[in-house]
Amino acid sequence: MARLDGRIAVVTGAGIGQGRSTALRLAQEGAKVLAVDVSGAEKDTAAQAPDQIEPVHADVTRGDEVQALVAEAVGRHGRLDILCNVVGVAGIAQAPVPDIDEDDYDRLLTVNLKSVFLGMKHAIPAMVASGGGSIINWSSVGALVSSPQTAVYGASKAGILAMTRAAAREWGKANIRVNAICPGFVYPTGMTLMGEREFPEAVSRAASKSALDRPGHPDEIAAVAAFLASSDASYVTGTYLVVDGGWTAG
Ligand SMILES: NC(=O)c1ccc[n+]([C@@H]2O[C@H](COP(=O)([O-])OP(=O)(O)OC[C@H]3O[C@@H](n4cnc5c(N)ncnc54)[C@H](O)[C@@H]3O)[C@@H](O)[C@H]2O)c1
Repeated sequence: MARLDGRIAVVTGAGIGQGRSTALRLAQEGAKVLAVDVSGAEKDTAAQAPDQIEPVHADVTRGDEVQALVAEAVGRHGRLDILCNVVGVAGIAQAPVPDIDEDDYDRLLTVNLKSVFLGMKHAIPAMVASGGGSIINWSSVGALVSSPQTAVYGASKAGILAMTRAAAREWGKANIRVNAICPGFVYPTGMTLMGEREFPEAVSRAASKSALDRPGHPDEIAAVAAFLASSDASYVTGTYLVVDGGWTAG
């Protein structure tokens, strides 16, 4: 029997990068997956495992769309066990603090932090009704260490850790575990391919920060997500796993 047989999962940002890898990995381990994205690429992900993965086109910064996709998971499968809040963007509001545009601040916080709030807001009641669940929120090493021009990105990712801990404390008695992953530099993904096009040197510098002297692969993050989703992690909640190849050990 596969580790996630019978589990129903929602994975956001599943069109490319870590979300795509996570959707495929959860499906490979037996889960039925709703692969959510706003780009249209969720259909390509679902085509890789059509019996296990259903594409859902939704904007996870919109409460009504997040509510509808949770309702679709429950309507179709009768339950919800796993939520992976992967969606995140970088490269917006990337400037010294006085130069950050207010609209860019709002946009980055909305995509990175409000999406996690909305995912948990709508998934938790469905998980309570299902007898429990596992929520995994994508933070970043950017929540733990800093560099210039990352104030807002770092704040969004640190906010995710605070929300993760609070939700874990609130919902543990309902058998809902809530954890975060802090990836280091992961390649290739939509975000890092774009970074490579715009700042090729910065990307190779980021990769060399890891003790392993290479970027992480999206599949290596997906493997950790599958662990957190599974009952192998049954006593893990309210924390974050740093998956950075040893970057922050330095
Ligand atoms: N790539 C890295 O090096 C790295 C490092 C640390 C943390 N992270 C975090 O990991 C997560 C995944 O990163 P990635 O590089 O794999 O991402 P990615 O850029 O490859 O993919 C993000 C996906 O999210 C989708 N998306 C964006 N906004 C959306 C919205 N409003 N509604 C629905 N879908 C939306 C995009 O269409 C895209 O398919 C992000 O939260 C990111 O901040 C990434």
